[in-house]
This record gives sequence, structure tokens and C-alpha cells, in this order.
Amino acid sequence: MKRLVNALILLTSLGCRADPGMVYGFNNIEPSANLTWTPCFDDFTCSRLEVPLDYSNRSLGTTSIAFLKLAGKNATVESPSIVLIPGGPGGSGIDLLSTYRAIVGQVFGEQYNFVSFDPRGVNNSGPSLDCFSGNTEARTAFNRLHRTGITNTSSTSLEEQYYSSSIYGERCNDAVEHESPHGYYVTTPAVAHDLLTFIEAEAEVAGQLPSDAKLWCYGISYGTVTGTTFASLFPDRVGRMILDGVMNAEQYYDNDWRDNVDQMDEAMEKFSSLCHSAGPEKCSFWGPTPANITARMDNIIYQLQNHPVPLSGVQSPNLPTLVTYSDLKALFINTIYNPLASFPGMADILHQIECGNASALAGLFDGTDFTSDAGLVIRCVDSYRRNKLTTIEEFKSYVEYSVSKSKYIGDIWPIFVETILCRSFRPQLPDSIVVQDPISGLDRPTSFPILFTSNTIDPLTALKSARNMSSKFPGSVLLLQEAAGQYIPFIDSPII
Ligand SMILES: *[C@@H]1O[C@H](CO)[C@@H](O)[C@H](O)[C@H]1NC(C)=O
Ligand SMILES: *[C@@H]1O[C@H](CO)[C@@H](O)[C@H](O)[C@H]1NC(C)=O
Ligand SMILES: *[C@@H]1O[C@H](CO)[C@@H](O)[C@H](O)[C@H]1NC(C)=O
Ligand SMILES: *[C@@H]1O[C@H](CO)[C@@H](O)[C@H](O)[C@H]1NC(C)=O
Ligand SMILES: *[C@@H]1O[C@H](CO)[C@@H](O)[C@H](O)[C@H]1NC(C)=O
Ligand SMILES: *[C@@H]1O[C@H](CO)[C@@H](O)[C@H](O)[C@H]1NC(C)=O
Ligand SMILES: *[C@@H]1O[C@H](CO)[C@@H](O)[C@H](O)[C@H]1NC(C)=O
Ligand SMILES: *[C@@H]1O[C@H](CO)[C@@H](O)[C@H](O)[C@H]1NC(C)=O
Repeated sequence: MKRLVNALILLTSLGCRADPGMVYGFNNIEPSANLTWTPCFDDFTCSRLEVPLDYSNRSLGTTSIAFLKLAGKNATVESPSIVLIPGGPGGSGIDLLSTYRAIVGQVFGEQYNFVSFDPRGVNNSGPSLDCFSGNTEARTAFNRLHRTGITNTSSTSLEEQYYSSSIYGERCNDAVEHESPHGYYVTTPAVAHDLLTFIEAEAEVAGQLPSDAKLWCYGISYGTVTGTTFASLFPDRVGRMILDGVMNAEQYYDNDWRDNVDQMDEAMEKFSSLCHSAGPEKCSFWGPTPANITARMDNIIYQLQNHPVPLSGVQSPNLPTLVTYSDLKALFINTIYNPLASFPGMADILHQIECGNASALAGLFDGTDFTSDAGLVIRCVDSYRRNKLTTIEEFKSYVEYSVSKSKYIGDIWPIFVETILCRSFRPQLPDSIVVQDPISGLDRPTSFPILFTSNTIDPLTALKSARNMSSKFPGSVLLLQEAAGQYIPFIDSPII
């Protein structure tokens, strides 16, 4: 007995857990072309599925895709799997399913299994690419040159942001050339094909015919591009497809994120009406009318634009800082990602600024979560042959469009969405993994109609995109929820 206790203590102190078959990282799993599930992270099973880098030329070799699976409370092994397709690009499905583990069963029904995955290039899936090759000093230097604040923060900032943007793609091209030869094999059509590989492997395990396998999925935001791309490439493989917070796939492949700014101000205007109806107890920035709230907010914008606030000791004890107009805009864009949950916090900050205390905004623009390399690389290789944002004139006109559509977010959006960083990418990719045809089901209708869903005010993936995509898939339906926010069932929006 004593020896057993000692052995247990030893195991615990080494960080081992009780169940010997349980793994706590994808590195502990051998990739396999057969779908094999290993118990992982206590409540899940994990798999690393080997897929060809290039489906048209298997001699190029393989990479592996990380999958995570959670059994619904009433599910059996035979129950269909609903695949959650993450947003971004660059979002991790592994993180998505871990985050929502407690509610997916309630949202979709406990009779299903839930699966998600890291798409190619993201986190636990290959092939990986670090555009600065581990050189954090170079990365910081680039950020300082390029991320200077809202795009028209000065009379020269648009030019500085445009010309500095070439550094990024050149770094990525170098990293591909010297250390990650297949780092650009992360396109969305390839990811769609990986999903086909997954459902066929799953059918094989279940003793069913792989060629009959169909995809059941729920995609959010950029994940809707993966969904419509899949439906367009493999229309007879659509089992059930729900696409929520819909992106205009043609604009995505053109690197022309344009519909996105359509409802940003509508979402911001909701702040004034909701703050007013919540009352002074619940909204610290309350005013006697919604118009009064909007006018005071506009005052703050005007004040900070003309009078940035120097502060000391806010971010670190002895360092000075300057609270700027760009910091305020960073507050706005972070808030509309999740308006209903973030409005009270924004009210508190605006209230403090009105009282002369701007410290809550200090450094907010620096802290703005910029996209990972994976997210940028995916969108840049996807749009390489169709990129509509390459010349300085195109950049200028994109900024003008975005500013004309949104007075609150329009001038921070171009540097926030970072599509300009694609302009010097030079991927050399086989046709088989690059988008070729328009994304649509007009020629070949899907085997089951797609359900598109959207809120009436979607601050990041506007309703008009959902209408547009639905018009391209015969039989599809658009379900609307009268609300402001990006997705229908989830309170939080983890990522675009
Ligand atoms: C794994 O797949 C290979 C073909 O890729 C097949 O020959 C083999 O039997 C499979 N192994 C298992 C354990 O299913
Ligand atoms: C397939 O890939 C191999 C290895 O990179 C290359 O040598 C060959 O030319 C490719 N074949 C075709 C048909 O593209
Ligand atoms: C599980 O299935 C049983 C029988 O169909 C049903 O009565 C029960 O409500 C289900 N439980 C959950 C959590 O869905
Ligand atoms: C990547 O995966 C690791 C380990 O699985 C996890 O801790 C981390 O949060 C993930 N990061 C992202 C950005 O998804
Ligand atoms: C940036 O552009 C917007 C819209 O044209 C304008 O309202 C604002 O004054 C400009 N900001 C600066 C600092 O020039
Ligand atoms: C908003 O309402 C308050 C309280 O009535 C008033 O003092 C203030 O002048 C109004 N502000 C604006 C910009 O209308
Ligand atoms: C100013 O705002 C900061 C951050 O919200 C807060 O921690 C601090 O207490 C405020 N200072 C005063 C004097 O209200
Ligand atoms: C859908 O979006 C594309 C790309 O912006 C546009 O060319 C097309 O006219 C739109 N179609 C409809 C029906 O709105």
C-alpha cells in the first residue's frame, strides 16, 4: 500500500495523470492516414489525420490535420458528427470546441458528436510558417513601422502604411524559400478537400462507403468561406450545412473585404439607444436621449483627435504614454466584435473619459490583437491570383470606401483587417489547391440545401453578404434573428 502511494506521488510530481492512455497535447499522437481517435484533454478524443499537401500530386508528401471530438450526451459512435468550422482565417477549431464544450450539445442537440479542427497552417496542424523565422526583434520593428494607428492619422501615414506593408510578404516569401517549402500550401480549397478526406475516413471507420460520405457542419464567419467553397467543389457531399455570420466568398478571394464595413455604424448606433433604454443605473454613459449620448460620444472623438492626452505611470510605473484617437478607435472595433456583452464596459470607459480620466484607453491600439501569421498567410495565398488591393491607388480607394461607410470604424478598419499586407506575397501553388471558379451552386445544386443564418445587424460580416451568398446556392434558406452581433447561438464571438 505504502509503495503504491509513493508511486502515485511520484507520478503526480512528474506531471503524469491517472489514465495512462490519456494525452494532453497533439504532439503525443502519431499522424495516420486512418482516422484513429486517442482519448485526450480528459473529455475529448483527438486525431491527427494525414492528408496530401497537393491532392493532384501525391508525391509532394503529406501534412497532418489536428481533429478534436466531443461526444454528445446522448450520442453513440454511429451518430453523425457535426464539424464546427472556425473563423479567422487563422482561428483554431480546437480552441473553439474546447471553449464551447459545455454548450454545443444544447445548441445542436445531445444526439450528435461534435468535431472541430485546426485548418492547415493553424496551431496544431501543418504545414507551419513563421514569417520572421523566430526573430522577434524584426517582427517588433516591422510592427512599429507599419501599425502606426488609424490610416489617416497624419498626412503621410497612408503612404507609410502602404509602403511598409511590402516588408511582411517579402519576409514570408523568404521564410518559405529557406525553411518551410510548403508553408503556402494552406489554401481554403485545400482545407475543403481535407474536410472531404475527413468524412471519407470517418465513413471508412464506420464500415460505410467513403464515396457516400456527407459533411454535417456549422461554419462561422471566415469558416463560411470554407463551407461555401466545400459546397461549390463537392456539391453532392453536403449533408447538413449551417453557415452563420456569412462572408462574401468572392470578396474574400479578391482580398476585397468590403461588405464587412456595411453595418458597423448601425451596430455602434445601437449603443446609444440601448444605453438610453437601460437607464442611468445600468449604463454609466446614460443621457436623456439617444441623440444626447451620440453627441457626447462624438465630442469625445473630436476631443481626442485634436487633443491626445499625455499620461504617466499607467502602463508601467515610470513610463509616459499618450492616449490617442487611434486608441479610441481600437476601443470601438473591439467593442463591436461582441456588442451586447461589451457595451457596458465601453460605457464605463466613455464615462471616465468624459470626467477627464483617459487612462483606460492607454495603449489600447498597441494591444489590439493583430492577426497571426497563419491568418494572414491563408488569406494572402487564397487571394494571390485575384488580389484587388495591390497598388497605392487601390489602397487609397479602399480606405476612402471604408471611411465613407463607417464614421466610427472606417478609418481603423483597413489597418485592422490588414489585407494590404498581402500585396508582396509570391506563392507558387498548383492549380489544384487554388480557387478556380466562382463560389456557387448554380451549375450543380447541393445535395442538401444550405442554411445561412445572420443577425439583422451584423457588425463584421454584414447581412448583405448572407443575402448575396444565399442567392448563389439554389434552395438555400436565410434565417434571420433580430439582434446585433455576429453569430446566432453564441454569446461570445471568439474571432472573425
Ligand atoms: C490503415 O489504412 C491502410 C491503408 O491506408 C490499410 O491498409 C490498413 O489496414 C489500415 N489500418 C487499420 C488499422 O485500419
Ligand atoms: C509532382 O511533385 C514532384 C515533387 O515535387 C515533382 O517533381 C513533379 O514534377 C510533380 N508532378 C506534377 C505532374 O506536377
Ligand atoms: C436522451 O435521449 C432520451 C431518449 O430519447 C431523452 O429522453 C433524453 O431527454 C435525452 N437527453 C438529452 C440530454 O438530450
Ligand atoms: C495552440 O495550441 C496550444 C496547445 O494545444 C494551446 O495551448 C494554444 O492556446 C493554442 N493557440 C492558439 C492561438 O490557438
Ligand atoms: C480621417 O478621415 C476622416 C474621414 O474623412 C476625417 O473625418 C478625419 O478628420 C480624418 N482624420 C485625420 C486625423 O485627418
Ligand atoms: C446631454 O444631456 C445633458 C443633461 O441634460 C446636458 O447637460 C448636456 O448638455 C447634453 N449634451 C449634449 C451634447 O447634448
Ligand atoms: C481612471 O480610470 C482608471 C481605469 O479605468 C481607474 O482604474 C482609475 O481608478 C480612474 N481614476 C480616477 C481618479 O477615477
Ligand atoms: C455579390 O457580391 C459580388 C462581389 O462583391 C458582387 O459582384 C455581386 O453583384 C453581388 N451579388 C448580389 C446579388 O448582390
